[in-house]
This record gives sequence, C-alpha cells and structure tokens, in this order.
Amino acid sequence: MDQTALMLLLCLCSSALSDELRLVAGRSRCVGRLEKKDLGDWKPVTYWNWNYNFTSAAGACRQLHCGSVVSLQKDKDGNVEIVCSDSVRLVQGTNRCSGRLEVKTNQSWSSVCEKDFDLQDAEVVCREIGCGPPSVHQGALYGEAEAPVGSREFQCEGSESALLKCSSRKSSGRNSCSPGQAVGLTCSDKDNIRLVGEASRCAGRLEMLHQEEWRPVDVRDGYWDMNSAAAVCAGLDCGSAVSARNSKAASERPVWWIWSDCFQSRSSLKKCLPHGRHSDQSHEIICSDSVRLVQGTNRCSGRLEVKTDQSWSSVCEKDFDLQDAEVVCREIGCGPPSVHQGALYGEAEAPVGSREFQCEGSESALLKCSSRKSSGRNSCSPGQAVGLTCSDNIRFLGEASRCAGRLEMLHQEEWRPVDVYSSYWDTNSVAAVCAGLDCGSAVSLRNSKAASERPVWWISSECFWSGSALKNCLPDDENNDQRHEIICSGLLVEPLIFLSSSTDGVSTGRKQGSELLIGSNFSIMCSIRPQYEGGSFQLIFSTSNYTQNQTLPAVDHSALFLFSAAGHAHQGTYRCVYHVYVFSYNFSSISQPLNLTVSGKLMESIRKSSASVSASPTALIIRLVVVLLGLLGSVLVLYFKARRNQKSGPENNHHDEGSRAEGSLEEETAV
Ligand SMILES: *[C@@H]1O[C@H](CO)[C@@H](O)[C@H](O)[C@H]1NC(C)=O
Ligand SMILES: *[C@@H]1O[C@H](CO)[C@@H](O)[C@H](O)[C@H]1NC(C)=O
Ligand SMILES: *[C@@H]1O[C@H](CO)[C@@H](O)[C@H](O)[C@H]1NC(C)=O
Repeated sequence: MDQTALMLLLCLCSSALSDELRLVAGRSRCVGRLEKKDLGDWKPVTYWNWNYNFTSAAGACRQLHCGSVVSLQKDKDGNVEIVCSDSVRLVQGTNRCSGRLEVKTNQSWSSVCEKDFDLQDAEVVCREIGCGPPSVHQGALYGEAEAPVGSREFQCEGSESALLKCSSRKSSGRNSCSPGQAVGLTCSDKDNIRLVGEASRCAGRLEMLHQEEWRPVDVRDGYWDMNSAAAVCAGLDCGSAVSARNSKAASERPVWWIWSDCFQSRSSLKKCLPHGRHSDQSHEIICSDSVRLVQGTNRCSGRLEVKTDQSWSSVCEKDFDLQDAEVVCREIGCGPPSVHQGALYGEAEAPVGSREFQCEGSESALLKCSSRKSSGRNSCSPGQAVGLTCSDNIRFLGEASRCAGRLEMLHQEEWRPVDVYSSYWDTNSVAAVCAGLDCGSAVSLRNSKAASERPVWWISSECFWSGSALKNCLPDDENNDQRHEIICSGLLVEPLIFLSSSTDGVSTGRKQGSELLIGSNFSIMCSIRPQYEGGSFQLIFSTSNYTQNQTLPAVDHSALFLFSAAGHAHQGTYRCVYHVYVFSYNFSSISQPLNLTVSGKLMESIRKSSASVSASPTALIIRLVVVLLGLLGSVLVLYFKARRNQKSGPENNHHDEGSRAEGSLEEETAV
C-alpha cells in the first residue's frame, strides 16, 4: 500500500467518525433542525438514528463552532431541533450551566477578564444560554483561561437577550488581566421543577420549566411512584415524599410530557427533556418539607434529619423518644415506628442538632411539637444520631399470620384493601407481595368479593415488579368490591422445643446444649403459638451418622415425646417440625435445634449416696422409686401449668411454656 492510499484511507475513516452536521430552518446557523451528510446527501437527524441527549447536542454545537446548547427537542416526526448559543459558551464546568465564560468575536473564542464583567453581564449570559439566574461568578473557578483573554469591557443593563448586544468598550487597563482572573460563571440550574397550588413550596402540582415556560407534567409511560415523588422532593430540598397522587383537570391543557426515567434521581430530573402536548393529567406531590430519613433501606427507614434555618441536621438519641418517632413516621406517610436507635443508618454526616423534642404523639409534624434546647448541649457522642424504622405501608389482614390474608395499603393516612387495574394478577405479582413483606415465597392467591362496595386503593400491575416497587406504589381512589387474599410460605411462626427430665426440670433448646444424667427419664415437648387448629409435630433426631423421626398429632398446639432411661444412643440433635394443612396447602416450620448429651454422673451419684446410707440393694430400689416419683411429679406440674395456660384463652399469643400432654402420655416411645 503506498503512501497516498494510506492517507486516503485515514481521511475516509475520520470523516466516518465525525459526521458532517448542520442546523437548518432556524434564525441563525446555530439554531434549527439537525441534519447530517450521508453519502453526499443531507438527511435529517432523528430521535431514532441519534443519541438524543444534551451531551450529543453539546457536541453538535461545538462542531458547528456555535456556543452552548440552549435547548434540545424533537418534533412530532422525531426530527431533532437544537438551539445553540451563538457567541457565548461556558467551558469546563460541571454542568451545562456553569463554566469559564468564552465569547466569540471575529470568529475566535476568547475569555473575559473579571474586571470587565459584572452581575448584569452575568444575567445576560445566563439567560442567553437558557439557564437560571447567576449564582456565582468569579475568576479561575473553572481552570485557567486557555483561550486568550479578550479586551472588551461589557456594559450590559441586564435585560439584553445576548451578551454581544450589550454595549461594550475597549477594556481600560489593556493586557492587564492577570492569570486566574478569567470569568467563571455558575448560573442556577436548580429549579426546573416546582410544586404549585398549595401554601407550601413543598406541596402541590408538579410543574416543569422548559423553553422558558412552566407547565404541569404528565408522565408518558404512566409509570409514576413514590420514588418519582421522592426525586422531586429531594430536587427541591423538601425532605421526604409523603404522598403523591394523580389529578385530572376539567379539560385538556398544555403540559410537558416526560418519560418516567426522568425521576431516577435529582440530576436526571434536571436533564429531563420534555415534549409539549395537551393532556388533562397532572401529578400532585406532598413533601415532608422539614424532616427526612436518609441512608435507609426504603423510604420508611433511615437516619432522621430535621431542617431548621435552611439546613439539615441529625437528632441526638437522648433528645428523641417514642412519641416523637410516632409523629415523624406519620409525617412521612409511613406506618407506626417499629425501631428507633442510634447509629443504625451510618454515622451522622449532618451536624447533630441541639433541640430536644417533646411531642405528645398526635401532632402532624415534628416541628409542630414543643421543643427546648437540649440539656447536655454538644454532648451527643458519635453513633447516637437517631435512626428510625417506621413500619411498612403494606400489610395482610384477617388471618392468624402476618404472612397471609387480605392485602391492604396505607395511603393518605388510610388503610384500605388493594385492588389491581386490569386484574393483572399472576404468580409473580403474588411473589412480589410476599417478598415485600418478608414472608417467603408465594403459596396461593384467592380473589374474594366483599359483601358490599368498600373504598379500596387501586394500584397498577407495574407495582408488582418487585417488593420495593410495591411499597413505593401510588394507589388511586375508587370503589370496588374485589379483594385479593394472598398466602405466603412464611405463614407459620417457629415452634419451640423443650427438654424436661426427672432430675433437671424443664429446659429449652439452647445452642450450647443440654445435659442429661444417664438412666434418667426425659421428655421433649414441641409447642407452637396458636395460629391454626390441628396439625402434627414431627420430632427429628439426628447424629452425625443417621437421622430418625417420629410424629405425634398436635394437641392444644403441642406434643410431648417421652423417653425412658437416657443412654448414649439418645445423644444428638433434636428439632421439632410443625406440619399443618390450611388453605388447601401443607405448611411446615422448624424449631431451633436442641443438642443433648448424656453423661454417666447419675449412676455414680446414686451409687455414692446409696453407699453412704446403706449398701443394701433395697436402698437402691427405694432411691429409684424416689427418682420415678420425681419424674411423675414434674409431668403433673407440666400438665397443670398447661391447663392454666389454656384457660388464659386462645387469644393469648405469647409463647406457651407448657401444654397438655394428654393423649401422648401413654404413648411412651423412644427414638
Ligand atoms: C478580525 O480578524 C482578522 C484576521 O485575523 C483581522 O485582520 C481583523 O483586524 C480582525 N478584526 C477585528 C475587529 O478584530
Ligand atoms: C422420617 O422417617 C421416615 C421413615 O421412618 C422417612 O421416610 C422420612 O424421610 C423421615 N423424614 C425426615 C424429615 O427425616
Ligand atoms: C399434605 O400432606 C398430606 C400428609 O402428608 C398428604 O397426604 C397430602 O397429599 C398433602 N397435600 C398437599 C396439597 O400437598
């Protein structure tokens, strides 16, 4: 290959890498519909054949020797339309609204000296590049000037549409701009969203600013949840999202139509590119304003932060109690508090505040509670910032287990049954519900009809994408008589296992194990907190070599397995498994292990005491009878204890320490 051929090839490659672009049908060469040259012809660039985002648009403006991107949009055929600023741009900034200012004069870009530039000039530039008003301008913020520093002093009044429309004059001290004094500018980019229509800036209808126009927002793919609302609240520095709902206007009006992925984060909201449209839909959000939970696993948990004087601070554990926690959980639209303790959600990054809250529990917001200066000021040690876990906004109701029943959701301070748009229920939906409530896998789903119409929360099938999607789901308000009942595999509580022997009384399953004297009679009781009638207990015995099991019916939620003359063969691990057939399914749950060892001390102790009293065999027999009477006594104690527990009523949900051994007493079995 000769030199010319190689050069040609290189040229072809580089032109393929960077398309030739132009903007057409605009008021200047820096404004209009984007086209690229394709095999000699100019073809429109569309949403589908181009990487449609601000970064690509900025590249196009740069390639066309225009300034910054002012706006990017597409028409209804998907054609891309770009407005670049003509003769000003911000470079090396962290976003499109900040950077070192460069001005194009005479076809080349130059920086501006700080002394030639003031706030009015900054206002004009920020407006010209389509950003909010200036927040900072100072030298050398965005690196040293690479372009030569220009020598014009600008004298804008502030209302001009472009910097080059302002009057200007030759800079006074020519060539006297020292390094580090090129103008760096930060225009505010902050609020392209706002909440309107309520007394607080942290509640109301969501509106977005685009092309200098505020309009309500409608979500194109319809998928909108508490995470979306949380991104809005965070973007407005308004704390946590408390509630959100869709609202309908009486008639269609212009809205900005956006995709739901704009709500992924604060920054994606700012980069969001809306599309103009008419709709009667809009979205209303209520943010908590002055409290928020941060670094938690979901929106109802995290370290508590409180906003006072426009800044967020943590709260010290000693200044916060259960009543205060109740107010906070209610304020952020979650269920009642389940845990609050220090350092659960990372060390405080915000400073720890010095107010002690004194809520009564019924206040609507933490900052409405009375409070006083914290007693031991500045004495909150690390790890004592309040971490709070409020309970879930979903629950099951109507069954003995927290993992089965009618699905209900808390929304706008009201628990209601849930119904699903389009009745899109499948095993995956039910699995998401069970997972969301930490209830294992899905077992069954029944649809039931209520006797009459009751208010329900309507949710869309997208809510079942995952357990967290469900918790973040935004229901709608309508009446319906359908109910959804769900049963999860984690239906049963854990059974308990107890060991009792003629010599030791009752002991429960322990990790370190229980020890029995050789030859003693013993029993193992399996018991479960009353949830469902009937069922059976299986006692599984395992050693390193083999496994055995036996089963007894559950009587009053327990079963007693009796063993005589403990020997080395009884050493091993015992577990109780409770089996029950409910809702047309078999469920089981297994207890903690009970590790049993048998030692030879009993025979020795009997022999020793026998020897001291009398060496005769009669004395030994008397000893044994005493031991057996002791065993009978402990069984009777167990029996009456169980009767007493039973009388305390079936609603007694605490652990029954013992239970009736009736029915299994005669059945003296050994594993
Ligand atoms: C513009 O640039 C050209 C070529 O560099 C130069 O001759 C001319 O004087 C410049 N005009 C101004 C107004 O600076
Ligand atoms: C219980 O024992 C039976 C037979 O004795 C056996 O088939 C079964 O697998 C055992 N079950 C367990 C859980 O060990
Ligand atoms: C439940 O268990 C019983 C007894 O082990 C068995 O006969 C029955 O087939 C099981 N039912 C289901 C639905 O698995």
